[in-house]
Amino acid sequence: VPVPRPDNIEDFIKNEDAAIILGKALFWDMQVGSDGIQACASCHFNAGADSRTKNQLTPGLNRVNADGSPNPDTAFGAGKGPNYQLTAKDFPFHNLADPNNRNSTVLNTTNDVTSSQGVFFSLFKNVVPGRATDNVDFKPDPVGFRVGNVNVRRVEPRQTPTMINAVFNFRNFWDGRAQNDFNGVNSFGERDPDAFLYRADGKDLVATKVSLNNSSLASQAVAPPVSPFEMSADGRTFQDIGNKFSQPMLLMSFKVFPLRPLGKQLVHPKDSVLGKLSLWPLTGLNTTYEALIKSAFKPEWWSSKKYIQVNPNGNKSIVSRKTTPNTFTQMEYNFSLFFGLAVQMYEATLVSDDAPIDRFAEGDESALTAQQIRGLTVFQTRGCGGCHTGSEFTNASVGRITTQGLTRVFLGRLIDEGFFNIGVNPTLEDFGVGGKDPFGNTLSEAKESSPTANTAVLGAFKAPSLRNVELTAPYMHNGGFRTIRQVLDFYGRNGNFQTRGAPDEIDFLGLFAINFGDDPTTPEIDTDTARAEQEKKDLAAFLTALTDERVRNQKAPFDHPQLFVPNGHPGDHLRIKKADNKTGNAIDNVLQIPAVGRNGGKPLNRFLQ
Ligand code: HEC
Ligand code: HEC
Repeated sequence: VPVPRPDNIEDFIKNEDAAIILGKALFWDMQVGSDGIQACASCHFNAGADSRTKNQLTPGLNRVNADGSPNPDTAFGAGKGPNYQLTAKDFPFHNLADPNNRNSTVLNTTNDVTSSQGVFFSLFKNVVPGRATDNVDFKPDPVGFRVGNVNVRRVEPRQTPTMINAVFNFRNFWDGRAQNDFNGVNSFGERDPDAFLYRADGKDLVATKVSLNNSSLASQAVAPPVSPFEMSADGRTFQDIGNKFSQPMLLMSFKVFPLRPLGKQLVHPKDSVLGKLSLWPLTGLNTTYEALIKSAFKPEWWSSKKYIQVNPNGNKSIVSRKTTPNTFTQMEYNFSLFFGLAVQMYEATLVSDDAPIDRFAEGDESALTAQQIRGLTVFQTRGCGGCHTGSEFTNASVGRITTQGLTRVFLGRLIDEGFFNIGVNPTLEDFGVGGKDPFGNTLSEAKESSPTANTAVLGAFKAPSLRNVELTAPYMHNGGFRTIRQVLDFYGRNGNFQTRGAPDEIDFLGLFAINFGDDPTTPEIDTDTARAEQEKKDLAAFLTALTDERVRNQKAPFDHPQLFVPNGHPGDHLRIKKADNKTGNAIDNVLQIPAVGRNGGKPLNRFLQ
């Protein structure tokens, strides 16, 4: 499977290796967050996913009414709350007396979600060149991420998928909102009519619309840095981030160096991408972001001597001097383009394609155990491959959608290829790809192209790739499953919730009936439990054949700089032990992820292990 890439990449990038260096630095740099702590990697450091277990729970914030209007549930499940320490007993979130029967007694159920802690709530004031922390105002968190009257870090409303192999997804995010075409500015591609950048043309700066295909990762990457949940104070723009990283610090009225890339983190001298630039045994890289952008991107995107002034009404004027705090150089103004494309170039190198299943597919029959080979047969005959298809193990892939199209009819309903409602939660808890973009249009290409068709898009989520699934618990968009076995029990009982029949809504497992143990030649005979048990064991064994040892052992290209990750707060969900005198926020527990070079290091602890 070729690694997808944009057709017109040469219009933007002049040196791909330099872009990969820039992208890896930006992905791992804690200084990108408004707090000087929160990096992309903070939530994607363990096999590309997140294994933290304290302050990782969030209430049902994505709940909607039947007409799709928001109806967020801000209350946590009984006995839980912000800064809760998860334990194995909390899983699965929909817990049945008989895990093989979805109609058996519900012991407990919750619309809470296991996800990732981001930033404390704050309002943006300004960046300070040379300083990792932005100037912000801390206010009581309006969404309620507080214990008593102390703010804690806010937690995202959906589980954190891995970015490894995400380059193969045609669209990204569970609901597919990171569009395949990148507009250079935000996640919404052509859906946003007002997205444009400035290109230098002789002495002029020309407002220019940008579109790159196969760039869902760039569309994705420009969301978190300005998200007031993930990495940002509320109100910070990408121009502000550009300003933070390109302006020199003022020291007694002298201009000295701007923020050094990865300035708070050690970079292993044998890092497969950054090693040559590492200042080891000191922190950071021996370069600036400005220099990296100039070596990676074509000059028409950064070289102008003119400035873009963003006026209070949102209009822009081209000026020759910096007059207001909202006047930006071309490099600052176009920073979202550099950030998005460079991070995408880096993530496109995170291809995991060396698992036992790959060697088996190449003809090495000893690559799988006898049990794994039986599991492969179960995978194929029970229909798993119908939604987790091909080498990518998902129908939501560029490869599949290029041949199959964005939409198709499946079991009588029009669907967005690769997106299915499989009844993890009741549909109203989260509409998934049936939800809306910020312009009020449906995210669903099926609904968009055929508004009157009966679809199955409400509550439908992207079928994730299953590669390295052994390493990336918890599972599903709600993070409600701790083990692969819990997922297989879920499939064996054909889902948690029956949502059949309503317009635009159907639970495919209800129709599809995985029914482990049923003899396909005598479907009228009841499920054989001993046989079902064996099939689940074999299937679980097969899924571990999708693990790439380079991912487990953090070997190149999956090696990385040091990282300090916030990991809940001293105290628990009832009481915070300490608050910071200056901010009034809870103090962070911090987890150190050591830097590793191309040869990797010890496997990291997995979720609740
Ligand atoms: C606070 C935690 C957090 C931070 C910080 C964060 N992410 Fe994520 N990431 C998530 C969550 C949660 C999702 C799923 C959100 C959704 O689907 O609605 C996600 C989804 C993704 C995906 C989509 C994968 C897929 O299969 O759909 C990619 C790629 C990704 N993140 C990369 C990044 C990059 C690049 C950054 C930095 C610019 C970043 N993340 C910062 C939590 C985080
Ligand atoms: C009808 C399509 C469909 C079928 C059939 C299907 N899956 Fe899935 N699978 C999905 C979707 C969609 C999700 C995500 C659902 C969600 O989060 O709401 C998913 C999620 C998963 C996950 C969780 C991965 C993660 O990273 O969170 C695993 C594991 C999995 N499937 C394995 C299987 C196995 C094994 C089978 C066969 C028994 C199977 N699937 C059959 C569509 C399907």
